[in-house]
Parts: sequence; structure tokens; C-alpha cells
Amino acid sequence: VRVSAEQPSPERPLVAVAHRGASGHAPENTLAAIDAADELGAVTVEIDVQLTADGEPVLMHDASLERTTDIEEVHPDLDSYDIADLTLEQIEAVDAGSWFDPAFEGEPVPTFEEALDRLESLDLNLFLEVKDPESHPGIEEVLAEELTSHSYWMRKNPPREPNRLMIQSFDWDSMETSEDLLPSVPHGLLGEVPVDELDDHDWADMVNPNHTGLTADYVSSVQEAGFEIMPYTVNEQDRMVEVLEMGTDGFVTDFPDIGQDAVAEF
Ligand code: G3P
Ligand code: CA
Repeated sequence: VRVSAEQPSPERPLVAVAHRGASGHAPENTLAAIDAADELGAVTVEIDVQLTADGEPVLMHDASLERTTDIEEVHPDLDSYDIADLTLEQIEAVDAGSWFDPAFEGEPVPTFEEALDRLESLDLNLFLEVKDPESHPGIEEVLAEELTSHSYWMRKNPPREPNRLMIQSFDWDSMETSEDLLPSVPHGLLGEVPVDELDDHDWADMVNPNHTGLTADYVSSVQEAGFEIMPYTVNEQDRMVEVLEMGTDGFVTDFPDIGQDAVAEF
């Protein structure tokens, strides 16, 4: 079953999705970034999720914790700083805020459950990116179990409601697995699906490519094939307007405040 309605419309407004939280204003993929997205007026937040060595889903973009935490100082003797090689206990000891700004010192790496708690309390919608699922075998099942056992599920999963809760990945096979597990949830394909392959993925709901090189022709081909399209990561207001003029359903941005302005003025 696919979402089908004219867009944009009051039922399907244009969306400026806060990328990794409001990651232009706060450290990416932290609760502080989710809070900042809410404070800046975002309705929808994108986060990246991966599994720890002991199978706990946590928020992290890179395979390694080195760029966005102080893990090398906290655990100087480890051979690997990859999330898949670290336990939740090891990850909970790091600071994921100071690298961005000292004001965020002590900000932890959140678990997926903690992120769902915060999204629920702030009544935010979620674009959940399953990051590098090949490095995290079974992550689709873990996320399905966490989602369906959390009260957020009941609030954000009316059948196929567009843009409340959506799961996406650059790994399209992983999304087909997730779609089988969670058939009531819209699923998105990250990257540019060739136009002649769109019909092969008719179980999916969104195609979300990089905005670089995007054309109005590609946007209309994707939408005519029945998908929504929200490119990433658009940070300049002029470019946001260009992307909306191509007919997209919205975009993902580090600056949801600028994004809201662009949508409001469009
Ligand atoms: O929303 C899609 C976007 O987040 C994909 O790129 O590298 O920021 O995860 P990346
Ligand atoms: Ca992402």
C-alpha cells in the first residue's frame, strides 16, 4: 500500500526535516540536537542508528566514535573505536558534545530508546536512518522490536500516515527486510534510484537523494512512480527554494530554522 494524495496539500505539507537533530546548532545525533530542533520549530527529526557490540541501538553517524566524541581520551588503550566493537557501557562513558562546543560538555551518546522517549515527549516525527546495516546484522529486527514496544509507536504509526515515522537507508535490501517486518511504516530509499529501476522498488514510499545534481525531471519521475522525495542536506536558503521549486515534498537540513522560513515563504 502506498501513500497517494496530491502534494503539497494541507494533509501533506512541505517538510524541513532537522538533520541528525538540528545539527547546525547542537552536536549531531544527541538529545540536545533533538531539543534544539524542537526549539527551532522543526516538526520532524532525522537520526542515524547503529548497533553496539552488545546489540544496543544507539545514535551515531560515523562507523567510528572518533570524530564526534572524546573516546580516544576516555579509552586510550582500545584497538578499535568503531561502534560495532564497543559495548554500550564503554560508549556511555564518552562525551559527545564538547567537540561541537564546550557548552555541550557531557552530552552523552543516546540510546535509540532514549531518543524515542524524547521524541515522544516533544511530539516530534521521526526519519530513522539505518546506518550501514551490513555492519550490524539483525539491526532491522532489533529496531522493529524497540519501535513496536515503545509508546511512541502508538502515537506515530497510524497506518501509512506520511512523514510521521519513516525508516530509510542507503541499503535498499535492508529496507525491504524492514518493510516486511513493519509493513505499516513508510520506508525510504536513500540515494538516487535510476528512473528505469523505480518500479522494482514499488514497496517503498520515498526516494531521498542528495540535492546536488537534482533536477525537476528526476523529481517528477520519482513522484509519478508513486514516491515522495525529500533530498538531503540543504543548508542554504536560496538552495532550499530551488529544491522546493523542483516540486519536492521538502528537504533535510542542518538548519531547520532556515528551513521553516524557506517553506513558509515558498
Ligand atoms: O537524511 C539523509 C541523510 O542523513 C543521509 O546522509 O550521511 O547525513 O546520513 P548522512
Ligand atoms: Ca543520516
